[in-house]
Amino acid sequence: MVKNEVEMANLPKRLAELKKEAEACEDCPLSKTRKNVVFGEGNIRADIMFVGEGPGQVEDETGHAFVGRSGQLLDKMFKDVGINRKNVYIANIVKCRVPNNADPSVEYRLTCIKYLREQVKIVKPKIIVCLGRIAATTIIDPNFKITKEHGIWYNRKNFFMMATYHPSALLRNPDLMKDAQNDFKILIDKYNEIKK
Ligand code: URA
Repeated sequence: MVKNEVEMANLPKRLAELKKEAEACEDCPLSKTRKNVVFGEGNIRADIMFVGEGPGQVEDETGHAFVGRSGQLLDKMFKDVGINRKNVYIANIVKCRVPNNADPSVEYRLTCIKYLREQVKIVKPKIIVCLGRIAATTIIDPNFKITKEHGIWYNRKNFFMMATYHPSALLRNPDLMKDAQNDFKILIDKYNEIKK
């Protein structure tokens, strides 16, 4: 095997090891209240990675990302633009549920971000889409304003990044849906462009 193939063959093992590490993590107080660590999942060679905020109640109970009401809406939005969940990777900024659906504090985010960083290094997506303010302010820019900057591309060394509204914001405020749907179209345009 040439080096690249060896690296590729090792990816599932590296990701599985990282998942095990995250599942044993006790680096912040959320480890005491979580039912499950929601590591993230999807295609290990995905070109597109979606990054949410952190597990909700259903995710905490099942250990899977975006499977509650927000996840159902996300699936619908995927379907509308022809994205198959099996072809993308989905992760969160924090891997454990914050009780009472509070925002994850900056401290929790900074403690947990090491897992997402490694996931990005292993999966090497070409595009990262932040779902909501928490993801965007954590990994694009601390001053990110989702209402003004959603749907705009930010070039990083190894990938393109953009943010759109979190599905839970869309459930609370359906007026935002048109903008979010347009962001998904912008995403598909970029994907088609880089696949040329
Ligand atoms: N909200 C998130 O940000 N992530 C999930 O996995 C579920 C709901």
